[in-house]
Amino acid sequence: MGARFIQVSVIYFLIGVVVGLVMGIAEQFQYTSTHAHINLLGWASLALIGVIYSVFPEAGNTKLASVQFWLHNIGLPLLIISMILFANNLLSVGIPTASVGGLLVIASVVLFVVNVFGKIKART
Ligand code: HEM
Ligand code: HEM
Repeated sequence: MGARFIQVSVIYFLIGVVVGLVMGIAEQFQYTSTHAHINLLGWASLALIGVIYSVFPEAGNTKLASVQFWLHNIGLPLLIISMILFANNLLSVGIPTASVGGLLVIASVVLFVVNVFGKIKART
């Protein structure tokens, strides 16, 4: 799954920098947290997970890593949509969307922790 995480991370990177540039030019700083999370939970976190899974394929090539991938990549778009909704004061839709998206991302991080501790053994 390492390569898959890295491939999807660069898509978030591209979207994140475009959002950053457009937001800056248009002076629409209510989208700062949208931009920050596309880049940090999308690009930075997924790229780092991808590199870790490439270095430790015994953790990367597991069912747990695959479930983690989908939880993150369903949860994060929902979280990003919720941040766009918050930026437009649409709280009644934004709050449930943020709750589901945030919980899915957290669930994926829990699986990551379980996988890293369960499958990666210290190398001598
Ligand atoms: C061409 C690339 C980028 C552009 C044009 C850009 C632009 C911006 C702008 C205009 C802001 C708002 C600043 C403000 O509110 O005063 C911002 C905030 C932010 N950007 Fe970017 N950005 C870029 C790339 C990135 C990347 C690659 C990351 C992370 C890996 C990143 C992370 C952040 C974070 C965390 C904030 C929020 C900072 C805070 O809370 O004060 N940005 N960016
Ligand atoms: C389930 C995961 C996460 C949730 C639900 C979440 C939620 C939030 C919320 C609600 C804010 C405040 C936004 C605002 O004031 O407009 C925020 C800010 C921020 N978060 Fe997260 N976050 C998560 C994960 C992360 C991670 C993993 C990172 C870094 C790797 C991160 C970096 C930041 C930064 C830099 C800010 C300040 C951005 C700004 O200036 O708006 N977050 N986050």
